[in-house]
Amino acid sequence: MEEKKDVLILGIESSCDETAAAVVRNGREVRSNIISSQIDLHKLYGGVVPEIASRKHIEKINQVIKEALSEAGTTLDEIDAIGVTYGPGLVGALLVGVAEAKAIAWAKDIPLVGVHHIEGHISANYIEHPDLEPPFVCLVASGGHTHLVIVKDYGEFEIIGRTMDDAAGEAFDKVARAVGYPGGPKVDKAAKEGNPHAMEFPRAKVGGSQYDFSFSGMKSAVLNYINQAEMKGETICVPDLCASFQNAVVDVLVSRAVAATKEFGYKKLAIAGGVASNSALRAGMKAACEKAGIEFYYPSPIFCTDNAAMIGAAGYYEYINGVRAGWDLNAVPNLKLGER
Ligand code: KG4
Ligand code: ZN
Repeated sequence: MEEKKDVLILGIESSCDETAAAVVRNGREVRSNIISSQIDLHKLYGGVVPEIASRKHIEKINQVIKEALSEAGTTLDEIDAIGVTYGPGLVGALLVGVAEAKAIAWAKDIPLVGVHHIEGHISANYIEHPDLEPPFVCLVASGGHTHLVIVKDYGEFEIIGRTMDDAAGEAFDKVARAVGYPGGPKVDKAAKEGNPHAMEFPRAKVGGSQYDFSFSGMKSAVLNYINQAEMKGETICVPDLCASFQNAVVDVLVSRAVAATKEFGYKKLAIAGGVASNSALRAGMKAACEKAGIEFYYPSPIFCTDNAAMIGAAGYYEYINGVRAGWDLNAVPNLKLGER
């Protein structure tokens, strides 16, 4: 019998403020996962500054790729294909990864695969769950996206719900900023000390699909609460506020994701994206899935936030499906899931 050849993918990710490269074997085994984060730099400005992000990616990308190859104990000569994020994201940031991937692919005659960033987030679930195969439902909640997706097959998606306004992570970031924290993970941490039922924030219903989301009303209610307390000279219990806000977000995410999984008749539910590392979301999903008899999957936190191992995993399935990018591969800032 002919032995199946291993496929090594070099994944490259630069869509926002993380410069990342990884080597992934057969879509599931992470040989290396290098992430150079710019968070501290952008913190000074209260959000990601696109021009600074692009410049930092240029400074870091060669070194990050070099480290990913050396930590994996391999060289470009052994890489079967390069998977690179080409959208959605910041155009200048994406272009750095795309140009780099094209240059290496051209110089070393390596096949090139363009990867959708959200497909990457979803594929992070394959890394630690060798048993997970499509079809399944995936909730993708990140700083830029909140999508409920049916993963019909590798590379085949149907979006059944999306946010009508803010992404879940964006709401976390804005509430975090209002209480003086730099981002979602700090709200998660503070919430552990708070009472999730101390304050009631609205769980918005939206007009479109019953699986669509809206977080801007919830976010405004929290900001109003803070303003009113400040005007009255009252001190706010920040842990209670964080726990109550987080509880409202988690409630909406869990109930819609589980309802969709049941209604569409699937037995498996996965979560992905930065917000998927939220401890209350993970606990809430686990409990609700157990109750509903649904198998629940989630990546380790390091594979939830932006990384290149997830791009290597997604790139593998695209590669074995015969997908190849040409030298005209470009950054597509508003790339839709399932589009090429
Ligand atoms: O997936 P990601 O790294 O980047 C995008 O593709 O957007 O997600 C980043 C988002 C940020 O909004 C961040 O505040 C949020 O994920 N996030 C969290 C947690 N960790 C990251 N939100 C809530 N709880 C967390 N533990
Ligand atoms: Zn992301």
